[in-house]
Amino acid sequence: MSGKTEILDLNRFDPRKSADMPVELAERLDKRAATFGASSVLFYEQPIEMVSAQGCYMVDRQGRRYLDVYNNVPSVGHCHPRVVEAIAKQAAVLNIHTRYLNRVVEAYAERLLSTFPTPLSNLVMTCTGSESNDLALRIARCVTGAEGFIVTETAYHGNTALVTEISPSALKRRKPAGFVRSVPAPSGEAPGPAFAAAVKAAMADLEAQGIKTAVLIVDSIFSSDGIYADPPGFLQDAVQAVRDAGGLFIADEVQPGFGRTGHGLWGFARHGLVPDIVTMGKPMGNGFPMGGVVTRPDFLARFCEETGYFNTFGGNPVAAAAGLAVLGVIEEEGLIENARTVGTYFIEQLRGLKAERIGEVRGAGLFIGLDFVDPASGAPDAPLATHAINEMKKAGILIGAAGKHGATLKIRPPLCFSRSDADYFLDTVSKVLAH
Ligand SMILES: Cc1ncc(COP(=O)(O)O)c(C=O)c1O
Repeated sequence: MSGKTEILDLNRFDPRKSADMPVELAERLDKRAATFGASSVLFYEQPIEMVSAQGCYMVDRQGRRYLDVYNNVPSVGHCHPRVVEAIAKQAAVLNIHTRYLNRVVEAYAERLLSTFPTPLSNLVMTCTGSESNDLALRIARCVTGAEGFIVTETAYHGNTALVTEISPSALKRRKPAGFVRSVPAPSGEAPGPAFAAAVKAAMADLEAQGIKTAVLIVDSIFSSDGIYADPPGFLQDAVQAVRDAGGLFIADEVQPGFGRTGHGLWGFARHGLVPDIVTMGKPMGNGFPMGGVVTRPDFLARFCEETGYFNTFGGNPVAAAAGLAVLGVIEEEGLIENARTVGTYFIEQLRGLKAERIGEVRGAGLFIGLDFVDPASGAPDAPLATHAINEMKKAGILIGAAGKHGATLKIRPPLCFSRSDADYFLDTVSKVLAH
């Protein structure tokens, strides 16, 4: 890895370091490389072949169970029977594009929109978080007449041409385009004023190049930046500054959305903010590919006056059935409450571990960041994060890293995670650090 963290490369399998690979696995890896080529990324020093999953656990080809503390897609639990049934039933009845009336799709839109504050009352359904962010940026440019975007410095927002420009962590060799400015993640005890000052400086810098600011876009839990959740409300000054200058605020809820932070469904709500546009993805269909954009009707109308928007698969009936089942499970199984109570317990216990190589532990609900540091200097210790990730895998726990230096464990299990799952994790991380 270069000096810069490339979020998509963290914990990436490296064929150059695969000396004692079992023969069968080595052959499979060669085949994979031959078919998928350079864009194929696998996790771990020794990749795993997964065959099934249920709840918080995944099972590999050898029948080994792993506790999944990584996954933000099957967020109500892997292969949740209710979601699986909803998908199967709808797929057996009707699955079409989005230009016919359909009651499942209408029911989903109404139910999802009822969870948003006024004036966010229109939904556009897409298939991925990237598509959602791409559309949100285009709406923002159309509504404001401005071109500039402000993002955090290790942000990842997706993979379209435009969205890649606002994803500094995906750019390996160059900086984002000239219409983008990045600001440091909001770290420290009281990050609000410094974050707002950085955003103002970024707007001034854009302005100096003749570019007005269209948008401040953040992942409202700052996942790839290293997870920054507290204190609630710290985003307000920065958002106000952008609005004062005629810009909009986009809350990217692809990671924190659908209950993960343990305080309602949406990460932005913890900050006491109503965004201009909200984008969603990953957990929305618990593995069924779906995403969405929620915004004000006048903004969407303005955009649609300029540009036709059609999405063949976005909002198909099977996606809507999956989405409805996900919202039902979150409510009926009390998963927001579970994220809050188990998450609070988990953070407290992690803070109590007293291992000298553990630095700060931050987070909200079941989204927790744990920094590894060099005990002597306090500097971020990325090699230790990589070591811990691979050792924890050997002990049956799947976990990933994030942050500017790649030294933060990104603890993000399905929302049905239990206290005993947390205890297993605590025990394992302690043993790994003791060696
Ligand atoms: C915060 C955030 N936004 C957007 C995306 C893009 O979503 P997708 O991969 O579904 O296009 C991601 C994916 O990791 C993400 O983490």
